[in-house]
Amino acid sequence: MLEKSELFDPEAIKALFPTLSQTVSDKPLVYLDNAATSQKPICVIEALETYYRKNNSNVHRGIYELSRRATEAYENARNRMAQFIGAESPEEIIWTRGTTEGINLVANSWGLKNLSVNDEILLTTMEHHSNIVPWQLLAERTGAKIRYIEMDAEGHLDLENLEELCGKNTKIVACTQVSNSLGTINPLEQIISRARSVGSLVLVDGAQAVPHRAINVGLMDCDFYVFSGHKMCGPTGIGVLWGRKEILDAMPPYQGGGEMIKLVQRDRSTWADLPHKFEAGTPNIAGAIVLATAADFLEEIGFAAIKEHERNLLAYALEQLDTIEDMKIFGPSDQSLRSSVISFQLGSIHPLDVSTILDAEGVAVRVGHHCAQLVMEHLGVSVTARASFYLYNTYGDVDRLVSGLNSVNRIFAS
Ligand SMILES: Cc1ncc(COP(=O)(O)O)c(C=O)c1O
Repeated sequence: MLEKSELFDPEAIKALFPTLSQTVSDKPLVYLDNAATSQKPICVIEALETYYRKNNSNVHRGIYELSRRATEAYENARNRMAQFIGAESPEEIIWTRGTTEGINLVANSWGLKNLSVNDEILLTTMEHHSNIVPWQLLAERTGAKIRYIEMDAEGHLDLENLEELCGKNTKIVACTQVSNSLGTINPLEQIISRARSVGSLVLVDGAQAVPHRAINVGLMDCDFYVFSGHKMCGPTGIGVLWGRKEILDAMPPYQGGGEMIKLVQRDRSTWADLPHKFEAGTPNIAGAIVLATAADFLEEIGFAAIKEHERNLLAYALEQLDTIEDMKIFGPSDQSLRSSVISFQLGSIHPLDVSTILDAEGVAVRVGHHCAQLVMEHLGVSVTARASFYLYNTYGDVDRLVSGLNSVNRIFAS
């Protein structure tokens, strides 16, 4: 772990991430695809190894020492995640594979039970596909209608007609806290307050928020909150769905199998209590345990420090990118309303060429529609290049990006 004096030193933090100390194309790697997934610190890698070396066993099924250890660590991790996001009780923490599965769980379980023709689901055009497609599948099966909050030119949600969009037929509003393609930080308070006033539930997609800021679901006053472990220094294949206990209690199971039952008879079964009702089959035990290690790691550094570092980095990156010829940056111009995600277009050069040349310079950025095709449609492009920063990125990383982009311009000019 870090010495206190090193806490805000991104170089010292970077040194805790083994993947970041390698060279790519003979150059030190600069990893700027953190919105897709984060790298893992040594403590997380070691916790995973320790689990498999020493404690590997199935949970809730054995009374022998190893199973006791695994079960205890697994349920402690649930307690830890409840505390991490300000949930009232660990029963409200459902382990999932990630954000996508959390949303599918709510759409299938709560949605199929509660929605029918004339009901409305309110989304935004800024959503990741995982917060659109499950609702489309649900709408097809129930006859419910999907409506969208649109964006303005800068990529802020346009809430002028929120009262009309979110009315008496609205049964659920599903909205991202932070956009993965534009970095926009959304005014959730206003949306949640309107939803509450018409009796609608609210699901918040926290995939791009949880890694970067302290979350308190109680204060947020939403009904469901979903996020993925792999974007917050944890392993892939593990995530959390938080839901209000009374709502989760009233929901039917999502999948059937072992672990989620009380009693199985020939023609019917009864369900286990929360949270196990929603956790059929052998779960990702190691993933859950190690996610708690990732939460410890982030909190030890401190979200205030992480947030401040990312703000400074964002300001520096925007200032430096602005010096590049033909650079167009998408997303909010007000830096207080955007996270450290920068989607951009370099003149008429295809983003694939941009990222290929950057890769040869050892700089990893993402190119694509970022699973947000409605955003691309809004921007009038099919793809963008995207650089996204995290706690271990440095000013030097920004300089490498800028120098790589200047090389792209030089190559295309010649
Ligand atoms: C805003 C947002 N929602 C949902 C997801 C889906 O997350 P996962 O693939 O971990 O389920 C992502 C992933 O990029 C995201 O950025």
